[in-house]
Order: sequence, then structure tokens, then C-alpha cells
Amino acid sequence: MPSAGRWKCNFTIMLAVCGAAIAADSSRLPDYRRGAQLHDDACTGCHGPSMYSRPYHERNPYFTVRKQVEIWQNFVGMGWDEQQIADVAFYVQKRFYEKSCEQGGC
Ligand code: HEC
Repeated sequence: MPSAGRWKCNFTIMLAVCGAAIAADSSRLPDYRRGAQLHDDACTGCHGPSMYSRPYHERNPYFTVRKQVEIWQNFVGMGWDEQQIADVAFYVQKRFYEKSCEQGGC
């Protein structure tokens, strides 16, 4: 029966497509440790964490951590890609703004 063969083929394609989508998705999750490393290499030379406790950061809706990381990595010429910006923004957000990583593990 020809239709059985077609179904099998479609199923294989579906698995491949879904598998790829899942793999791509998990690689896009921000990584705290990688963010910490990049941040310490690139951002702590000029200023310490006090940079992140200015009250107007929370009041200004246009001030987002992601945007700041993007601007500053550009300023110092790091040339980070989307993934690296996301990693550092995640780290800065968790560690310095939410202060939810004080005890180490995130
Ligand atoms: C070459 C030195 C230098 C490096 C490296 C650097 N910065 Fe800065 N940063 C500055 C200066 C200068 C200011 C402005 C001074 C101020 O606002 O007190 C600043 C300000 C900031 C601010 C506050 C902006 C505001 O409006 O309050 C943030 C957030 C920031 N930097 C994040 C970063 C991040 C993230 C990195 C790493 C990608 C980084 N900086 C690396 C020099 C640097």
C-alpha cells in the first residue's frame, strides 16, 4: 500500500524537525556560569557591582539589563553574539538585580 510508505516518511521528517527545534531551543537558554565568566572578563575592569544598584534603573521602563549589556559590550568592543549577550544579561539580572544567587547556585 503506497500510503503506508508515505506516512512512515512523514513521521520521520516530523521527528527530525521537532528534534531540531528542541535542540535549538535548549541551546538558546541563557547560561548563568557562562554569563558570569564573560561578565568578569569584560565588565569588572572599570566598575564594580555598585553600578547595578542605582535606583533609577528600576524606575526607568526603558532601562533593561539586556539593553545595557548590549550597549556596553559594544562600547568596549567585545563583539558578543545574541547568546553571549543573553548569558551575561541573565547573570547580571539574577545576581545583581534580583539578588537571587547570593548563595552561589542558580
Ligand atoms: C572601559 C571601561 C568600561 C568597561 C570595560 C565597561 N564599562 Fe560600563 N561604564 C563605564 C563608564 C565610564 C560608565 C558611565 C559612568 C557612570 O555611569 O557612572 C559605565 C556605566 C555602566 C552602566 C550604568 C549605566 C547607567 O545609565 O546607569 C552599566 C549598567 C554598565 N556600565 C554595564 C557594563 C557592562 C555590562 C559591561 C561589560 C560588557 C561594562 N559596563 C564594561 C565604563 C566601562
